[in-house]
Amino acid sequence: MSYFSGKKYNIVTFGCQMNVHESEKIAGILQDLGLTHIEKPEMADVVVFNTCCIREGAEDRAFSNISALKKCKAQNKDMIIAVCGCMPQQKQGKYDFKKKLPFVDIVIGTHNVNMLGVYLKQVVDTKKRVFEVVETPISLEEGKTTIRDDQINAYVNIIYGCNKFCTYCIVPHVRGRERSRPYKDIEAEVKDLIGKGYRYITLLGQNVNSYGKDLNEGIDFATLLTKLSQIEGEFKLKFMTSHPIDFNKDVIKVMKNQPKVAKCLHLPVQSGNDEVLFKMNRHYNIKHYNKLIKATKRAVKNVALSTDIIVGFPGETEKAFEDTLKLIKKVRYDQIFAFMYSKRTGTPAVLLPNQIDEDVKNKRINKLLREQKFISKQMLNACVGKTYNCLVVVKNGVTMGLTDGGREIYLPNDSNNQVNHFVDIKIEDIRNHKLSGVIIDGRRN
Ligand code: SAH
Ligand code: SF4
Ligand code: F3S
Repeated sequence: MSYFSGKKYNIVTFGCQMNVHESEKIAGILQDLGLTHIEKPEMADVVVFNTCCIREGAEDRAFSNISALKKCKAQNKDMIIAVCGCMPQQKQGKYDFKKKLPFVDIVIGTHNVNMLGVYLKQVVDTKKRVFEVVETPISLEEGKTTIRDDQINAYVNIIYGCNKFCTYCIVPHVRGRERSRPYKDIEAEVKDLIGKGYRYITLLGQNVNSYGKDLNEGIDFATLLTKLSQIEGEFKLKFMTSHPIDFNKDVIKVMKNQPKVAKCLHLPVQSGNDEVLFKMNRHYNIKHYNKLIKATKRAVKNVALSTDIIVGFPGETEKAFEDTLKLIKKVRYDQIFAFMYSKRTGTPAVLLPNQIDEDVKNKRINKLLREQKFISKQMLNACVGKTYNCLVVVKNGVTMGLTDGGREIYLPNDSNNQVNHFVDIKIEDIRNHKLSGVIIDGRRN
């Protein structure tokens, strides 16, 4: 019996889907050691903080959460606390965990997280703290245990890292260069998940459209989607995130022609102003972005669009911000994710002149979100009369259809025989912001 048998773990996750999925792999490592999950971190024997440093707010949240465990550790000396993910991987991070948090036992980065089990045993054996942040990724291991949180959607990594170096962004600095997973490994994992009954497979990467460029397999992202769509079974593929410079006609064509590719697209624009985009090192202009959106809307009926926007990037004038407002009015996204620019030490944008005051950023983000709220409401109303291919689920005892974009459509009670299947649903009504509809075409296979 190992030291950890019967002991309890909890994982606290911050950040993007990539981190959420990494935490599922960390759960696998911990369960392989004999630990079982417990709801509250304060009650656990091993607590892992999987951190994010995309903005200062994310770092502050993580740091105060970790600090709050000091009292628990004082009461339970055997408690092991580990910090991993993007925060420790930074060269000039805001927080020095080693010095500031003496009760933390393990601090590791993004590249050696799969060594966590080894480090945990080391702490038990030597009673010494472990600090290991490495510069190059420790080779990706296949076939490891993954404890997935969601029963419907499963995340699958297709590419790690980022080569884009947008001037505001810390990700390339903490996740390293792009590394695609070999096609055969991705296919094997997707087949396994479909066999296990997952209905949505979300392909993950900081920039999924770069898939394959670093491999010699002759499989680009559009080809990958096409090949995975050929797998037998009832499922749909989603993907995130796409970069407007690499997202292209080929991918739009696959979205149009493959029923197994979900009809939703997250295409971060960041700003509606060309000058700002140039300073961000985004490599496209709004004309190009609009062309992609137009082509997607034309090809993919009722496509659900979403985006990321940064307000208050250095040098963003009132006019530049108005251009972003104009853009969201034109595109009409279902959903936007808006952020105030946050200085990241080590990225070029920190050194740019004309940094924007916090109160100006605040005003701009509020204006943007108000406008989007109005658009989102209109988009919701516009769903009535349209038909969507949906997955039928039961949520809190209520039967509903889920569109690819995540909208919930209430269904009559007699729809229960279609639960867990994809069906066509016509939206008939909206009341109190809730859509209701009927199944017009049941399960086809
Ligand atoms: N790889 C993805 C997502 C990166 S992080 C992409 O390229 O779109 C998610 C979002 O965080 C980004 O799209 C951007 O809008 C936002 N973001 C990144 N760095 C930021 C910063 N320094 N300040 C504010 N928002 C930032
Ligand atoms: Fe960051 Fe840009 Fe890479 Fe996205 S594409 S992760 S925003 S550097
Ligand atoms: Fe955050 Fe790292 Fe993701 S910085 S957004 S957790 S890649």
